[in-house]
Amino acid sequence: MMDETEKLTQSFERTFGRRPETVAYAPGRVNLLGEHTDYNGGFVFPAAINFGTWVAAAKRPDRKVSVLALDYSGDANHFSLDDITQDPVQPWSNYVRGVLKALMVRHLVGGLELTITGNVPQGAGLSSSASLEIALLKAIASLYELPLSGVDAALLGQWAENEFVGCSCGVMDQMASALGKQGGALLLDCESLQFEHRAIDPEFQIVIVDSNVKRGLVGSEYNLRRQQCEQAVGVLGVNSLREVDMERLLQAQSAMSDVVFRRARHVVSENTRTLAMARALAESDYRAVSRLMAQSHDSMRDDFEITVPPIDTLVSIIQQVLGAQGGARMTGGGFGGCAVALVPTNLIDDVRRAVAEEYHKRTGLRAQTYVCTPENGAFLE
Ligand code: GLA
Repeated sequence: MMDETEKLTQSFERTFGRRPETVAYAPGRVNLLGEHTDYNGGFVFPAAINFGTWVAAAKRPDRKVSVLALDYSGDANHFSLDDITQDPVQPWSNYVRGVLKALMVRHLVGGLELTITGNVPQGAGLSSSASLEIALLKAIASLYELPLSGVDAALLGQWAENEFVGCSCGVMDQMASALGKQGGALLLDCESLQFEHRAIDPEFQIVIVDSNVKRGLVGSEYNLRRQQCEQAVGVLGVNSLREVDMERLLQAQSAMSDVVFRRARHVVSENTRTLAMARALAESDYRAVSRLMAQSHDSMRDDFEITVPPIDTLVSIIQQVLGAQGGARMTGGGFGGCAVALVPTNLIDDVRRAVAEEYHKRTGLRAQTYVCTPENGAFLE
């Protein structure tokens, strides 16, 4: 962490001719279970990881914002707090613009100089954007002494994505980045936003394997899934799929199309699995962890239809190594991205080897494996 802070501080000095007043950090996240349940008012079980985004910041006496992203080529981006519009030329700056627009609804904020860097693999479904939003909010809250809680920050980050960037994501990623906890995962009820931290047995490692499948259809397909869930909600006459159990869904099956029924079946079954997963982890019941993660993957593949063949292959390669001793599934929004696995320490090398030997042979793609640790979120008290 020191290295990134130092790098960022130096580039801040080169760009703005003075030292930053603060450097904030927020982690990315990996979701252990509970996919596409957040915007359905359901349960998710993510962990903040040891990859994240750093923001160096200082106040300006005027209403201007200047921001340099070290990981993107090009000059600093400039805008006025009094006229925040979308920037099609440097789209990364829309996260900064959106976060400020969200903040200014309720809080007094002045001008800013900012530099940003991060090491969350981009486009891999590990929430580089949520970590940017939360790191920005942390930095700005500290500079302008804003009384922001972790939940406030998560909702502001989500607002920036939904209303400004134009991605209708749920609140899971921002909550994990803000409120995750070292050594554990966050069991979050996305309806009430109540959460509990659940420790992960240190004998098990979180292994993330990036499939390197470019996530192409992500925006349109994600929004389509949301619409299909809403159709099911309409047929069922409820407020959200959270209110529905499998029995109720089956009673309404004949009133919906097959696709809408299967989308809802994924969400309803995934909510049950998420709660079961939290219990299984607490009891170190790895046979159950293995089964639940496999069922989640199958449900995402067959009912929600958000996996792609290389990811199915990747997950099955890892599952073969783990047997009932650990679990693996696709994680995140889908259509590419990463597999996540809970792996006993003594099987990590075997997982690495199997992925290296098999994945390229069977898909022509090369995967990247990261052994992660669960870290504190940026707003954890
Ligand atoms: C993306 C979204 C989240 C969530 C997941 C799927 O990561 O940003 O809000 O919906 O997809 O679980």
